[in-house]
Amino acid sequence: RIVPVLLCGGSGTRLWPLSRKSYPKQFVPLVGEETLFQASARRLSGRTDVLDFAAPVVVTHSDFRFIVTEQLQGIGIDPGAILIEPEGRNTAPAVLAAALHAVREDPEAVLLVAPSDHVVPETETFQAAVAKGLTAVEEGELVTFGIRPTRPETGYGYLELTGEPDWEGEPVKLSRFVEKPDAETADRMVEAGHYLWNAGIFLFAAKDIIAGFDTHCPDLVAPVTRSVDAANPDLGFLRLDPEAWSEAGSISIDYAVMEKAPNLSVVPFAGGWSDLGGWDAVWREAGPDENGVVLSGEATAIDCNNTLLRSDSDRLEVVGIGLDNIMAVAMNDAVLVADMTRAQEVKQAVDALKAKG
Ligand code: GDD
Ligand code: MG
Repeated sequence: RIVPVLLCGGSGTRLWPLSRKSYPKQFVPLVGEETLFQASARRLSGRTDVLDFAAPVVVTHSDFRFIVTEQLQGIGIDPGAILIEPEGRNTAPAVLAAALHAVREDPEAVLLVAPSDHVVPETETFQAAVAKGLTAVEEGELVTFGIRPTRPETGYGYLELTGEPDWEGEPVKLSRFVEKPDAETADRMVEAGHYLWNAGIFLFAAKDIIAGFDTHCPDLVAPVTRSVDAANPDLGFLRLDPEAWSEAGSISIDYAVMEKAPNLSVVPFAGGWSDLGGWDAVWREAGPDENGVVLSGEATAIDCNNTLLRSDSDRLEVVGIGLDNIMAVAMNDAVLVADMTRAQEVKQAVDALKAKG
């Protein structure tokens, strides 16, 4: 059986004003009726011909604990455990805590670590890729999933293969993992053709990732172990010990282990995948009509092209006339209007708003 580990910590500021610090994007229905978190939990649940998933382990912040239980209940999934981080320390401590928790229940546990804010529309294709990865896990490999890159994105990790990817094939050894390269390097890697994007989804035996931390990021191991040992069960949540946790450094698993480990394999994944990193991605995933228009909520477009008009407000109606390449998102207390090509700058806008207080 595979234990899904759902990471649920980010605040998704590039999807402001819908995504808020108190209610980040993974908990909002962005595309379709389910939230991204619910869709992720469902994708990694149940039993299929090829896989058998155990109840998920969710790692999240205290603020989101009731949203998590409510949303899991809403789709009829019982969590195996909900680990509460005293504070966000990025993904490395979160994954290590989940792995330490899992080996206590089963020393041979296999984990599928996944973000809760991605769109992966083809569940079967995805589960088939996971099943392929299991053969490498048996050999002690840390398995990544590779996406064909379509632009020199600097916000992703890159996986260097030894040759052209085999889209039908078995997992192959990785020669290198490069997290968030600069623009020039990203450009070169996309041109070269034997690099894939890291999907941010990982498959490994809990004991192997713990060994990876022991070797490549030993400073995290003592504080996180103590924090898990002294964790406090509280109304169905497992609160990690705050004192020990505060001694753990803040680092992502990509930098902490993946960039350094020699035992990496990749399963090339040809199915749909998007990390919904901005409103432009939401627009793309929602399926624009023949004029490139996406409407959501009380929204009307007249003579618009490549435009997203969205109201998540119960008071405001959004109307666009003659717009080109524009996104407008209305909430009761804030309205965003921006050029579609500048979706990434919403993050800076939110920082500026914060600074204003
Ligand atoms: N519980 C918990 N605690 N979860 C966290 C924390 C934390 O402190 N920090 C981040 N997460 C969750 C986020 O909510 C998200 O679901 C996932 O972990 C990944 O974190 P991101 O912060 O979104 O990472 P990224 O997008 O910059 O980079 C990762 O994903 C890319 C693909 O989307 C890397 O793995 C890249 O290599 C990869 O290409
Ligand atoms: Mg991300």
